[in-house]
Amino acid sequence: MTVNRVWHLANRPTGFPSPGDFDLREEAVPEPGPGQVVVRNEVMSVDPAMRGRMNDVPSYAPPFRLDAPMEGGAVGTVVASASDAVKVGDSVLHGLGWREYSLLDAERVRVVDTAAAPASAYLGVLGMPGLTAYAGLLDVARLRPEETVFVSGAAGAVGSLAGQIARLRGARLVIGSAGSAEKVRYLVDECGFDAAFNYRDGDIRAQLRRLTPDGIDVFFDNVGGEQLEEALFRMNLHGRVAVCGAISQYNTPDRTGIRNLSLLISKRLTLQGFLVMDHWSRREAFTEEMTTWLREDRIKVAETFVDGIDNAVEAFLGMLRGANLGKMIVRLT
Ligand SMILES: NC(=O)c1ccc[n+]([C@@H]2O[C@H](COP(=O)([O-])OP(=O)(O)OC[C@H]3O[C@@H](n4cnc5c(N)ncnc54)[C@H](OP(=O)(O)O)[C@@H]3O)[C@@H](O)[C@H]2O)c1
Repeated sequence: MTVNRVWHLANRPTGFPSPGDFDLREEAVPEPGPGQVVVRNEVMSVDPAMRGRMNDVPSYAPPFRLDAPMEGGAVGTVVASASDAVKVGDSVLHGLGWREYSLLDAERVRVVDTAAAPASAYLGVLGMPGLTAYAGLLDVARLRPEETVFVSGAAGAVGSLAGQIARLRGARLVIGSAGSAEKVRYLVDECGFDAAFNYRDGDIRAQLRRLTPDGIDVFFDNVGGEQLEEALFRMNLHGRVAVCGAISQYNTPDRTGIRNLSLLISKRLTLQGFLVMDHWSRREAFTEEMTTWLREDRIKVAETFVDGIDNAVEAFLGMLRGANLGKMIVRLT
């Protein structure tokens, strides 16, 4: 018997999760039934949205069950197949990560080309975070050339791509916020942001005023809370906010209210929340354009790797704390 190690949710966290909320269990590697495949996972994703699924509340994705395996994006190689459509040796992307081996119906995996791009790219720049940045900026915020864009959470998987797409699509000024001096340097020196600031240095209002003298036309918000409130003060007439995430609020039982929403009226602002899953129809256009930018070396990709299934929870908690530059990936092999 080959052992499969699988992360279960042991407790529903209140506030910031702790290692004791998770349990790594051993089970036998499954056998495929008719139409199924077994995948040996090589890389898996840890995402902020997984924190939401640890709460027992109705949402767009069902909560993780207690004492049951968690789920998430992963890429691996098919090691057993009882399907005509997917062969042993195929590299596939699927949604049952948090384990070394996954058993899936063949129609729930997508074959990917790991000769064209590394497996991790399908969890980041060419995957869900990349499409989130693309659709959020172009379809939700409807970026126009010569506009000023502010991206919060700018050094992460989605944010670092959103800022660079803004630049490539003709923004006049691209500003970002992130949680360390090193990240701020990365945004300006590597990713071509015009400026960035460390939100932990305080006085976000003064930093935004200094860096956006002509105001903000488009705000791609990954953070919510204080940064959203302060950005609203800087928004120009008819500005658009793509509300992508609110990570400052995910681990805080006492959520921060936004106190200046009346600015939406006087400035005729649009705040639009969105989910990437409503934008799958854009996948083809996104993949084509992003592949071209990558080939022409016009976009920088950062990935932070943590090795081993044993360290997957550490990677997840680290991502929530800001230990990642770009996409946080757990390497399993
Ligand atoms: N709408 C959608 O369909 C969709 C899809 C994917 C992701 N999202 C959202 O997009 C956002 C980014 O996701 P991602 O996958 O790219 O994650 P990520 O940015 O790669 O990683 C999370 C980052 O959040 C930052 N952070 C943590 N606590 C914070 C706080 N209190 N204030 C400000 N920043 C904080 C940390 O960076 P610092 O060091 O800078 O603090 C950390 O690196 C999340 O809010 C996520 O929920 C939405």
